[in-house]
Order: sequence, then C-alpha cells, then structure tokens
Amino acid sequence: MPRFEPHPQRRPALVAGASSGIGAATAVLLAAAGHPVALGARRTDRCEEIAETIRKDGGEAVAHPLDVSDSGSVDRFVSAAAAALGDPEIVVSGAGDLGAERVHELASDDFAAQLQVHLVGAHRLVSRVVPGMVARRRGDVVLVSSDVVRAPRTRMGAYVAAKNGVEGMARALQMELEGTGVRASVVRPGPTMTGMGMGWDAETTGEVLEEWVRWGLARHPYFLRAEDVAAVVAAVVAAPRGTHLTLVEVQPEAAVARPPASGPPPASGAAGAAPAPVPEVER
Ligand SMILES: NC(=O)c1ccc[n+]([C@@H]2O[C@H](COP(=O)([O-])OP(=O)(O)OC[C@H]3O[C@@H](n4cnc5c(N)ncnc54)[C@H](OP(=O)(O)O)[C@@H]3O)[C@@H](O)[C@H]2O)c1
Repeated sequence: MPRFEPHPQRRPALVAGASSGIGAATAVLLAAAGHPVALGARRTDRCEEIAETIRKDGGEAVAHPLDVSDSGSVDRFVSAAAAALGDPEIVVSGAGDLGAERVHELASDDFAAQLQVHLVGAHRLVSRVVPGMVARRRGDVVLVSSDVVRAPRTRMGAYVAAKNGVEGMARALQMELEGTGVRASVVRPGPTMTGMGMGWDAETTGEVLEEWVRWGLARHPYFLRAEDVAAVVAAVVAAPRGTHLTLVEVQPEAAVARPPASGPPPASGAAGAAPAPVPEVER
C-alpha cells in the first residue's frame, strides 16, 4: 500500500492571470500535459483566444472573467470553472501588474492597489479554493512570487512589499496545511520577458535598467521566457505525492561563454567582476 494516494487522473487547474505572459504559458503547458484548464483574467477575449487554441490542439479549456481585486469576481470564476471542469485540483496565482515609481513618490492608494492585486488577490484565491482541497485531502496551490523577495529592486517598492507578503503568507499556509495533503508552493521567477513593465515609457525603462546595474542586479542580458517559468510551475504540480517543492527560484541562465583555444574559460559573472553594461535584453 503506497504511503500516498497518487494524483488522480483528472486534475483541473485554475490559472489566474492567464491572458498573457507566465499565466498564459502555464495554461497552455498544463493543458498539453493533460490538465483541464480554466483561464481567468480581466481581458477575457484574450483568455478565450488561448482557450480556443488549446481546444484546437486537443486540450480541454474554458475562459471566464476574473478580477482578483474583487472577491465576488474570484467567487464567480472559481464556481464557473468548477461547474465546467470539476473540482479544482490545482490553482496558480499569477495575476499581477507593476508600476515604476519610487516609494516616496507613490500615492498610498496606488501602493495599496498593488498589494490588492498581488497579495490580497492571492489570498482571495486561496481562501476560495483551499477549503475544498483540504476537504478532499489533496491539491496544489502555486503562488507566483518574484526574486525581488531575495534581492529587492528600486522603483518597485509596492511590488517588493506585496511579494514579501505573498511569501510570508505562503510559509504560514504551508505550516497550516501540513498533514492535509494540500501543497502550497512558491515559484519565484527572476526577470522574465512578458507583458509586465511593457507599459513603461522608454525613458523610464532605461532609468530602471541603469539602476538595476548600479545595484548589481543585471549580471547578463538574458531574460527568461514565459514558457520557462511555466515549465517550473508544471514541474511543481507534477511532483509525485509524498514530495513537496516548497519554493523554487528560477533564473535566466547566462549565455555559455566559448572557452579560449587553451586554458580555462574566462570568468564570467565571478565575484568582483566589473559590473555588466546596461543590458540589451535578449531572449
Ligand atoms: N515578468 C517578470 O519579470 C516577472 C518576474 C517575477 C515574477 N513575475 C510575476 O509573474 C506573474 C505574471 O506576470 P507576467 O510577468 O506574466 O506579466 P503579464 O504578462 O503582464 O501578465 C500578468 C497577468 O495578470 C493579469 N492581471 C493583472 N491584474 C489582474 C487582476 N486584477 N485580476 C486578474 N488578472 C489580472 C493580466 O491580465 P489582465 O490585464 O487581462 O487582467 C495578465 O494576464 C506576476 O505575479 C508577476 O509578479 C513576473
């Protein structure tokens, strides 16, 4: 008799923030892995387009409106997804937005709005979905955090505060869920090429990148792709029962330097190396 029942054959997944970036890629990858998926975001038309592509490729997908800053919207999204696909076995909290203001220049209402989406939004999903998972004695909750928890960045104070809140909440949740069969996991991406930050003007983007370099936060020009992070989310939920990937940080790998004709490869990114120039972002 196994110590843990294996995952059920059918594991419906809810993906919040599925209209673009990491959430969209996660929905596509989970569907390709056989999960029925419910895509939620405010831009329902984009979620529906992605769901349609998934269905054309033989997967099972539905799209519903979702605004994680509104408890009623979260409730309606989860109810509609469960009615269409069955009880959720997986929920991915990936909705988010990002300003580029300095903390002391940011209006407190705007600061609170970022906490609403990233932190309270994640809590809304957890509080709506996890009680059912606990009753069923299984489930996966994936909270998308950010490497800013480990290495804060300038011009993102509200975001840094929100993601620290997400990880703090996740750690408490993990303790509370111990022995319930429900796994709460944090996926902590580094810089990823998505829609996030794309609304900034060129001048702001340049300034922010320069500040990252000044603070030693841009070691090379490579960004992750949304699909790379989705692969990590998929690995977290695919982990066999009896194991729990509690926190996974994923960073873009630097380009592999060609070794010289003889001798060791040049030190790249070694401690004490000269700071990288302002990055030309490459994928
Ligand atoms: N990109 C990075 O470098 C990076 C690094 C670390 C962590 N992350 C995290 O990864 C997650 C996904 O972001 P992304 O990079 O993929 O950015 P993205 O492409 O801009 O996607 C963000 C998603 O969140 C949705 N969203 C925003 N506000 C929402 C709300 N109130 N209710 C429901 N959905 C909402 C957006 O859809 P609608 O606008 O249609 O609602 C969109 O689908 C975020 O939690 C972000 O903090 C990103």
